[in-house]
Amino acid sequence: MDRTFVMVKPDGVMRGISGEVIARFERKGLKLVAAKLVRLSEAQVMDQYREHLDKPFFPSLHAYILSGPCLVMVWEGHNTVSVVRRMVGATNPSEAAPGTIRGDLALDTGRNVIHASDSPESAAREIAIHFKDRELLTYQRVDEPIIYEWQ
Ligand code: RTP
Ligand code: MG
Repeated sequence: MDRTFVMVKPDGVMRGISGEVIARFERKGLKLVAAKLVRLSEAQVMDQYREHLDKPFFPSLHAYILSGPCLVMVWEGHNTVSVVRRMVGATNPSEAAPGTIRGDLALDTGRNVIHASDSPESAAREIAIHFKDRELLTYQRVDEPIIYEWQ
């Protein structure tokens, strides 16, 4: 089992589609182990997007993420990082495949609804930016014995 960091960005929260995003991951069989609605701090945004600090789009990305509430979450399951990235879809929603979150729910790269970690290393780093260890909960989904063959 592994974990990934997922964030519904301010456009997603303010459009009222956080529930749809959560429902997709729940239906997939992934387990929600942490969640909170927050306004990110300046330091968290700089850390979260540190690989993009020098990119031309960083000022607008920075303003966008700070513009409203974000729903930060940790999801757990088998191959969660890659499974979630595939469900999220391409960065540019106009090119994201139908059936993906961005492909179904957005149009503009600068308003693409959701962030998800791109590797297990990024996931560990990003989870630590937003959550304390004690905020990551341990429990069993009642359907886990059906979702996984080996349970
Ligand atoms: P994310 O980190 O948010 O999950 O998105 P991603 O991996 O698909 O894309 P990434 O390259 O990491 O870019 C981070 C976010 O920056 C904004 N962006 N704008 N205007 C542009 O060319 C541009 N490129 C990226 C998007 O909000 C993107 O999700
Ligand atoms: Mg990224």
